Amino acid sequence: MSTEKIENTSPNASKSERENALRLKELFRHSPIGGELLDEASLYQNRQHLMRQLFFDGLYQQIINVHGVVMEFGCKWGKNLALFTALRGIYEPYNHNRKLLGFDTFDGLRGVSSEDPRALEGSYATSKGYEEHLRSVLDCLEQECPLAHIKKHEIIPGDVRETLPAYLKQNPHTIIALAYFDMDIYEPTKVALEAVLPHLTRGSILGFDECNWDAFPGPTRALDEVIGKGKYRIQRSPLQPIPGYLVID
Ligand SMILES: C[S@@+](CC[C@H](N)C(=O)[O-])C[C@H]1O[C@@H](n2cnc3c(N)ncnc32)[C@H](O)[C@@H]1O
Repeated sequence: MSTEKIENTSPNASKSERENALRLKELFRHSPIGGELLDEASLYQNRQHLMRQLFFDGLYQQIINVHGVVMEFGCKWGKNLALFTALRGIYEPYNHNRKLLGFDTFDGLRGVSSEDPRALEGSYATSKGYEEHLRSVLDCLEQECPLAHIKKHEIIPGDVRETLPAYLKQNPHTIIALAYFDMDIYEPTKVALEAVLPHLTRGSILGFDECNWDAFPGPTRALDEVIGKGKYRIQRSPLQPIPGYLVID
């Protein structure tokens, strides 16, 4: 795994940007705020963090009148699921049918192939048993929103090439409003994309965290092979240079 990835900065970041990102992390790690740190955590949120949240807000707003679940493939620590929980509570507090599903091995990338020249099997692993912590956090966040007695999220650990087909077999009624692919690599993205297609409706969004990106070309290749680049407009947001999405119409 490259140093850039450990620091979670873009491979396009300059040396000074990387140094500054590290400095911010150090300031956060040694924050003197103490017990109020959670309430004040946005003090340490930089432009990039905020842009990413606003990007997801834009996607979420586009599915409000579309039936179906939200699936994130490669949810890792789960910050996007946390954000979606809040957005659901804000924009559609009474939609207890908008389930959020997070898929991840929690052991890092699995299924790296020759289509993924810079990816390393096992990178991006969370800490052992992390999925239980994530479930507890999402339970807690859901309690902050209306209809909290109805559980509306599910964490599905394991290789998506097995867990997604199994989930859809058990839940054949599933309609997917938003599927967000952030596994960085070709094979699992291709398998997941093929599996979700029969579950889409007009207005469903397919989002790709790595789109038209030479650092991680695998997901774009999967998109090209399964759907094709020309069938739908591959859209982007001014808030994010790499991610792309398409709306099924
Ligand atoms: C870049 S991280 C995701 C980051 C996360 N979406 C975020 O925004 O914070 C990529 C994730 O994909 C997961 N992943 C890779 N291959 C996978 C597979 N075959 N099945 C399930 N998850 C996989 C990894 O475990 C890793 O957590």
